[in-house]
Amino acid sequence: MLVLGIESSCDETSAAVIKDGREVLSNIILSQKEHTKFGGVVPEVASRVHLKTVVPIYEEALEAAKVTLDDIDLIAATMGPGLVGPLLVGLTFAKGLAFTKDIPFIGVNHMEGHLSANYLEHPDLNPHHISLVVSGGHTMLMEVKSFGEYTMLGNTIDDACGEAYDKVAKIMGLGYPGGAKLDKLAQKGKKDAIQFPRALLKEDSYRFSYSGLKTAVSLYIQKLSESELKEQLNDIAASFQEAAIEVLVIKTLKAAEDKNLNHISLSGGVAANSRLRSMFEERIGDNQKLFYPSIKLCTDNAAMIAAAGYFRFQKDGAGSLNANAVPYLKLAK
Ligand code: KG4
Ligand code: ZN
Repeated sequence: MLVLGIESSCDETSAAVIKDGREVLSNIILSQKEHTKFGGVVPEVASRVHLKTVVPIYEEALEAAKVTLDDIDLIAATMGPGLVGPLLVGLTFAKGLAFTKDIPFIGVNHMEGHLSANYLEHPDLNPHHISLVVSGGHTMLMEVKSFGEYTMLGNTIDDACGEAYDKVAKIMGLGYPGGAKLDKLAQKGKKDAIQFPRALLKEDSYRFSYSGLKTAVSLYIQKLSESELKEQLNDIAASFQEAAIEVLVIKTLKAAEDKNLNHISLSGGVAANSRLRSMFEERIGDNQKLFYPSIKLCTDNAAMIAAAGYFRFQKDGAGSLNANAVPYLKLAK
């Protein structure tokens, strides 16, 4: 079964073709550069770039997969959460293709897409497992009971982890988006140089908080001269990263223990983080197993959307062409 995926929820325009939910035939991703000068994503600009690029990106995805639209069995497009204008561009385009060619269509939850990047690459991941989804907009710890069945264990009460990375990177003068750049600097710094707060670590809950950590880094940097900041940049990055990541790792491992589940999946843009991966590997129990997607499938891409569409279709059948963009679409209560 061939699935065409379309993703346009934020500032990546992407189209992909996957086979039988497990094999990526193509995954074309255009990361919009237009937002760099604004220091963040401008929704209206993102919509216009999606409009301009969605058709060529889709054509490139078919060509790279060596298929035509007539070969496609299902079209899956992100319907939320995300920015309403950008979502509408990809969703409307995908629905138009499906309607014209009478191909089954399915609207996909972007977060289910992130999670499904693991199903795409790891057939041995137990469908009943603990999942940490960490992106620019979300920090979610869930018990996944089976595909599409989620219990939300904890969420962030303020900023998302990726959002904190981007904001701290901006304060440090690294530009936007800064998560991956900060990660690179952190690898050269001393992670115990500065003690930044581990929010809600002592609280017996799965909740997260990142606004205090961001403020703590900001206040620390305000006290430094320009030359001191330059000198300490790697150490600040490493110390921030250690604080941001440690809470995720400790709470996720505790959830796995509490729920007696030994498979853990990571996904979302922050799952690309080097320290998140290495700290999990250091602290994970002998009877536990960690799964995460390859770097390209962590950040926004259409292959993960096609995968989620494939597994949803197996479970519930095709969706409706009435599917609309839902900016705050929920995955679980
Ligand atoms: O999943 P994603 O591509 O988009 C959303 O759905 O939000 O995640 C983007 C987020 C950004 O905040 C970006 O800074 C962060 O993921 N990110 C990273 C790394 N690579 C991307 N954060 C920390 N370390 C990285 N290596
Ligand atoms: Zn995302």
